[in-house]
Amino acid sequence: MFLATTQRAIGFVILVLVVIGFLLWLFVNLRSGRDEIGSEIELAANRRPGTPDEELEGKRLNVALFSALGLLATIAVGLPLYWLGEPGRQEGAVETFDETFVRRGLEIYENGAQCVNCHGGAGVGGLANFVINDQSGSFVAQVNWIAPALNNVLYRYDEDQVRYVLNYGRPGSPMAAWGAEGGGPLTTQQIDEVIDYLWSVQLPVEEMRLTVDEFVKGIDPGLYERMMEVRRSNADVAPNGDVEPVDANRLSRGDEIKLGEILFNNQELAAGSYSCARCHVAGASYGKGWEPFERLQYGSFGPSLVGVEAEATEQQHFDLIWKGMDSGKLYFSRKQGNPQMPGFGVNRNSGRSDEGIPDLGKEGQLTPEQVWAIVTYERNLSNASTVKSPVAGTAESPSFIDVPRPSPSE
Ligand code: HEC
Ligand code: HEC
Repeated sequence: MFLATTQRAIGFVILVLVVIGFLLWLFVNLRSGRDEIGSEIELAANRRPGTPDEELEGKRLNVALFSALGLLATIAVGLPLYWLGEPGRQEGAVETFDETFVRRGLEIYENGAQCVNCHGGAGVGGLANFVINDQSGSFVAQVNWIAPALNNVLYRYDEDQVRYVLNYGRPGSPMAAWGAEGGGPLTTQQIDEVIDYLWSVQLPVEEMRLTVDEFVKGIDPGLYERMMEVRRSNADVAPNGDVEPVDANRLSRGDEIKLGEILFNNQELAAGSYSCARCHVAGASYGKGWEPFERLQYGSFGPSLVGVEAEATEQQHFDLIWKGMDSGKLYFSRKQGNPQMPGFGVNRNSGRSDEGIPDLGKEGQLTPEQVWAIVTYERNLSNASTVKSPVAGTAESPSFIDVPRPSPSE
């Protein structure tokens, strides 16, 4: 361990030589000092005859000069060598460290905690078989609860928010508390290792975009074309240009409501990981949106958004969905942020590489025209005619949209 690198070995040898040299010098000096005891009676120690010039300028001078030269050469060659080697050594150390973490994280993901059973291999998302009990603990139903894709989770949440979910889980859902902090079985380090593994499976941003776009295309090709056209017209929107996303070009109102509904509700795209309904509509996570089991609101993890247009302006609304919430900070002028409301427009991890957090770029899961569409759809939830889903349900996976919704007052 101690001599693990060449630089350290060289440094160690030099140190040993210096220490030996110093001890020798000390020894010789003490010896010659002792020789003098008594001699000062004839001649004081500081008055002994000096060394003659012939001797000084001969062998002794050479020895002194050459040893000085030798030391100088050691420093002159050794230091640059060390500096040259150091960054490589540090990089190597970080790499091995990360690889080990990712490998251990994979082990926990697939075997230790079996996240894979619910969230799928490499985090593609899946289903969790779950028994719902009522408050008194008696059986209500067995459901398939959607477990969102995690190969995009570090685009919608920052690392601390992911850590929060891992530590505390989602009470009332199949997602248990895994971290010791929340009473779970995994240590702080194991949670970090799982997060490192999640980093290693994040999709490139283009692939993420394509998944969403293809999904929209599959439902409504015309809407897809118009969406892409508006997006192209927004090429100068930040972070690459100077137009703020909130000022971006938008689809027509009718198209926004259509696109907003697709994005807000669908649980088919990447196991609901782009959906809002899974957290904001009771029962949507197990295919019973707007029709949760009697008295049970499981699946409604965030608040109902019906009537939200009265809480904030369009711009504030856009900003919240674009950036997500900062835990404890105020939003909508009087509410406290919650670390579990994701941000869909920007990657909150970007620009934090000095803290050792990987940077996938500034882009988040959705683009400005998509977020605008969701805002418009959401602000019209109280308007009964908006809630008609183009996503048809089947017997196994009933459409939760066609069921009558409770009115905002209920
Ligand atoms: C028994 C099934 C199950 C297991 C095992 C499980 N999860 Fe989950 N997880 C879920 C479900 C279901 C949700 C969604 C809960 C909800 O509706 O809010 C979820 C949510 C999450 C979320 C939040 C994602 C989001 O966008 O809301 C993260 C992150 C997560 N799980 C990671 C993990 C990791 C890592 C492990 C392994 C340590 C794990 N889960 C194990 C079922 C599971
Ligand atoms: C993983 C769960 C989750 C998902 C997915 C999610 N949200 Fe939220 N959302 C929350 C939580 C939690 C809150 C905060 C509740 C609070 O104030 O404590 C919240 C709050 C909000 C609010 C503020 C509501 C109010 O009245 O204060 C809006 C608006 C909102 N979400 C919109 C959305 C939209 C739009 C989407 C989809 C693009 C979405 N959310 C996806 C969990 C989620």
